[in-house]
Amino acid sequence: MENFVAYNPTKLHFGKNILSTLAGTLKEYGTRVLLVYGKGSIKKSGLYDQIITYLKREELEVVEYSGIQSNPIIEDVDAAAILGRQHHVDVILAIGGGSVIDSAKIISVTIPVQHGGWDFFLGKAKATEAIPVVTVLTLAATGSEMNPFAVISNHALGQKTDFGSPLTFPKHSFLDPQFTLTVPRNYTAYGIADLIAHCFEAWFGIGTPSLTDRFVIDIIKEAMDVGPKLLADLGNYEYREKIMFAATMALNGITMYGRSAGDWGVHNVGHCLSLLYGVPHGASLTIVYPAWLRHFKNQIPERIAQLGSNLFNAPLSTGESIYRIETFFHSLGCPIRLSELNLPGDLFQPIFEAMVYNKVNGANMKMKEEDYRKIIELFI
Ligand code: NZQ
Ligand code: ZN
Repeated sequence: MENFVAYNPTKLHFGKNILSTLAGTLKEYGTRVLLVYGKGSIKKSGLYDQIITYLKREELEVVEYSGIQSNPIIEDVDAAAILGRQHHVDVILAIGGGSVIDSAKIISVTIPVQHGGWDFFLGKAKATEAIPVVTVLTLAATGSEMNPFAVISNHALGQKTDFGSPLTFPKHSFLDPQFTLTVPRNYTAYGIADLIAHCFEAWFGIGTPSLTDRFVIDIIKEAMDVGPKLLADLGNYEYREKIMFAATMALNGITMYGRSAGDWGVHNVGHCLSLLYGVPHGASLTIVYPAWLRHFKNQIPERIAQLGSNLFNAPLSTGESIYRIETFFHSLGCPIRLSELNLPGDLFQPIFEAMVYNKVNGANMKMKEEDYRKIIELFI
């Protein structure tokens, strides 16, 4: 087992109708709230009206920043931080999926300073102060609601990368599975794939603690059992509840106990696809994972076969394990080759260049330019 530090200060409020304590929780930090949300799904679902009513009842002052896009961009983060600074906000309320929550985390450390948010990603600035972030999660996928990470794109610099600090954990996250009932089929599937991919990144990281490996396997098994049932019955509360819980557990630290790092190579390749072509995050992972597994199958054959055999309850070879994992992702309706997205033009060269420029790598399975070429050929 590797040495590890366990730390997670986010207070999670999970279950049906937990929002009644939201306004009171916000008030603990002050009365001026910066409300951050996406392109409008919360207005369509009625969640926006519900939350505004709660906030008004407690006489909280609300200033809004809306329009955060999927695969969020630094320009929105900086604009929202300026708004929050002008209004001297006491707390940020992020309502949405990973994109909104990730943006809120960087807004929270940018409001107290005079420079743009990207300086944190470049390592030019250290986060020393943060406006508290409270989240209401509407999409089960990233685990952002209970971790310190934020992944933001900077198209001017050609980068999609992550930042995290002990200051960027949300203070509170409110998870009512009812809020995920409106997530469309495609994003529901991407979320299931994403949570499984987070477990894979842990599994292929540095360290093989047997107890934590069991946690990882069981989180994936839960997703593989419930995921297809949910996709066949999108309005089923119990399935939504189980997937929401699994997604939070897949990236809140517990899969890392006894490991010194996750691998994250596949995520880093996937970020290039999202950056270049706007590929939804979960879809980028179902495209890259089978290729990455095939590429590294001779270096880590036992670890891959152990994963497959555990997940499918049968003694599987390395090759069979990869095939079954790929087939499972496809059965969710997720793409497993980039060609399924029908993107125009030469794809190889821009992807290769983005990977070189971003120095894409894994913490455990190291990649050089030759590996990039082979992996791209396998998924293109
Ligand atoms: O913008 P709105 O209108 O809200 O629509 C969103 C968006 O179009 C919609 N949506 C969200 N909740 C909904 C809903 N539609 C109907 N009903 C609801 N209840 O879903 C679309 C996707 O939302 P988004 O937030 O982009 O998805 P996700 O939660 O998958 O977040 C993806 C982002 O998180 C990053 C990814 O790289 C990507 O940028 N990640 C963050 C991580 C973290 N912080 O730990 C780790 C992950 O590996 C990942 O990298
Ligand atoms: Zn992910």
